[in-house]
Amino acid sequence: MSSLAHADRDTRRELPVRCMACGTVHSGTRPITACPDCGGLLDAVIDTDQALTPADLAPRPGTPGATSGVWRFAALLPAIPERDIITRWEGNTPLYADERLAAYTGLDDGQVRVKHEGHNPTGSFKDRGMTVAVSHAKAIGSALVACASTGNTSASLASYASAAGMPSLVLIPEGKISAGKLAQTIALGARVVQVEGDFDVALRLLRELTADGSVYLANSVNPFRPEGQKTIVFELLDQLGWNAPDVIALPGGNLGNTSAFGKALSEAYQVGLIDRLPRLATIQAAGAAPFAAYYASGFDHYEPVQAETLATAIKIGDPASVERARRSIEQTSGWVTSVTDAEIMDAKAWIDRIGIGCEPASAASLAGVRKLVADGEIARDATVVCVLTGNVLKDTDAITAYHLDGTPDVNRYANPPVSIPATMDALRRVVDDAIHG
Ligand code: F0G
Repeated sequence: MSSLAHADRDTRRELPVRCMACGTVHSGTRPITACPDCGGLLDAVIDTDQALTPADLAPRPGTPGATSGVWRFAALLPAIPERDIITRWEGNTPLYADERLAAYTGLDDGQVRVKHEGHNPTGSFKDRGMTVAVSHAKAIGSALVACASTGNTSASLASYASAAGMPSLVLIPEGKISAGKLAQTIALGARVVQVEGDFDVALRLLRELTADGSVYLANSVNPFRPEGQKTIVFELLDQLGWNAPDVIALPGGNLGNTSAFGKALSEAYQVGLIDRLPRLATIQAAGAAPFAAYYASGFDHYEPVQAETLATAIKIGDPASVERARRSIEQTSGWVTSVTDAEIMDAKAWIDRIGIGCEPASAASLAGVRKLVADGEIARDATVVCVLTGNVLKDTDAITAYHLDGTPDVNRYANPPVSIPATMDALRRVVDDAIHG
């Protein structure tokens, strides 16, 4: 593309965002996370009038999309000028198939795949949203980027802001995120503020601070963040040859991903890339499941909760994107359900021991599918993709607690290490046991 054509495109489109409540379109060339007219949630406006084919989305040499699994889908993303794009080769994550996944869920052989977002540069799916948000912040000249986080958003923001040479500020609930995520965020250069209170309190505080646009809010209420996260769906569809699966299952916390997935699916459908919509299944932790309760009420009654779960990534009692996520579930005739911490940790241990590995919140997707199959909601011959949102090393405290500190009759797949004296006899006994079980 010539530089003239590029400039034309930038000024013409102005990165518009539309309020999902009142429909008003605003310019996204300033930091904006709520409709100035009615306070509603915003969506980036994407041009879906032109039909697209998979060839239009192939990585193009010489563009950020040559190496980024997000920017190769630029035709379905906000038109941020290429010169402002901060990319760390995010995306391009594997879609694994393993018979043992199907066995765990009760689905027929070969019907379950997992899309492993833990393979992103900072170890979670947040990098896909952050490349868009931080590039947008750079394009509009923001001086400081900030987020509230349960640990993954903060690590991702720290990385992309530092890559851009921008300062970043993160608010985390004190003592409530994993040690690894806190260490990662500190190491990658963010200014870390530990707030007394939970994630919901931290996010409320930050939304107030950023309301006037002087600080760029990088949480998923920002309409540019979910845009990057749409590419999880585009990429998995591409990996399936654009044959849509029956179900896509994902964990739900602040509900940015659920919002992004519904938007991705409806846009892919509108431009003709897929001919039917998969059903979304959003899975919450039982102690942090206000969206599941809202769904159970027929989306009639929403009430925040005081969140409590071992899956600290999704320990959120008042998700910011409830209404956008509701639209995703309604548009795809999806489900919202919840699973207990024991179900999450057993599913995680299963995913780990078949050699894949993920953090606790991620495993809610597989645990939720197992429950929906047992309940007869998902048919045994359905094709299902579960999204694993974070890397196994994100929360080693949870691993130790399950395998070393728990009791095997409770933690079904516990695999504690054995200690031996430094003798060949003792070592041979362990070898015998490893071979013969
Ligand atoms: N899985 C992981 C590993 C997460 O870190 C998160 C959210 C989710 C699932 C839920 O995604 O919020 O889009 O529904 N983590 C945020 C954070 C809240 O601050 O890192 P969601």
